[in-house]
Amino acid sequence: MKIALLGYGKMGKIIEKIATDRGHEIVLKIDEHTLDQFTVENLKKADAAIDFTTPGSVLGNIQKCFEAQTPIVVGTTGWYGQLQQVKNDCEKYDSALLYASNFSVGVNVFFYVNQVLARLMNKYPYYEVQVEEIHHAQKLDSPSGTAMTIAEGIIENLDAKSEWVNLLQQNDGETIGQVKNNQVLIESLRIDSVPGTHTVIYDSEVDSIEFKHTAHNRSGFALGAVMAAEWINGRKGFYTAKDMFNFDLK
Ligand SMILES: NC(=O)c1ccc[n+]([C@@H]2O[C@H](COP(=O)([O-])OP(=O)(O)OC[C@H]3O[C@@H](n4cnc5c(N)ncnc54)[C@H](O)[C@@H]3O)[C@@H](O)[C@H]2O)c1
Repeated sequence: MKIALLGYGKMGKIIEKIATDRGHEIVLKIDEHTLDQFTVENLKKADAAIDFTTPGSVLGNIQKCFEAQTPIVVGTTGWYGQLQQVKNDCEKYDSALLYASNFSVGVNVFFYVNQVLARLMNKYPYYEVQVEEIHHAQKLDSPSGTAMTIAEGIIENLDAKSEWVNLLQQNDGETIGQVKNNQVLIESLRIDSVPGTHTVIYDSEVDSIEFKHTAHNRSGFALGAVMAAEWINGRKGFYTAKDMFNFDLK
């Protein structure tokens, strides 16, 4: 496959290696210094584009891929307020997009089990749930897109919760702010060099249940993104990682 890489930072560089190891060719490599090459004409040369850029540039990148009718895999987070508009545009341009807040296989297994666990915990309302996420200090958005997906998975399945609230932990370990009964607390911590750790905690007076995913490095995200590019090649429509992984125990 021919792949256009949008973003050549920490993720873009690992994706390049994994994609070439899997026999793909990188035909376009765009970062903020090579924007002159970022044209519809060049995008048309790729079977799929993979975007790991910034919340500020991703919407323009998606739009350009739609215009070129080049399927796009979006790993960039921090733009989900615009999801419905992007979905409409995807249909309007008869194009293809797959996005995921987290492309790692392990996290997608985690998302699925998190939903099953939340449904089970309806029977035990004396447990209070919260989500904790830890990332490197350079991360631009908070909470992480992954933590939002986890919280939404809880809200869809745990009757007592209908929204989430995010609080950032201060250097002294304190979190400042109020959490209402119907809210899932997402607590964010920023610690240098942590690729991404997410924990769901059900706490009661007698015990706690902790369900945790720890990324050891960024390769898992990159592999999932390349697999998504392979999956979306030749497809039309608006997809999430759920469509690609298609977990179902029934
Ligand atoms: N979905 C996932 O699995 C997953 C995993 C890791 C990171 N992420 C997300 O991916 C994004 C990138 O992460 P990173 O760690 O590689 O960041 P990074 O800062 O290392 O790289 C960002 C890259 O985007 C480039 N860029 C900036 N403006 C651009 C523009 N207008 N057009 C094209 N390129 C532009 C920069 O030059 C840089 O190369 C972040 O939003 C992060 O949260 C998602």
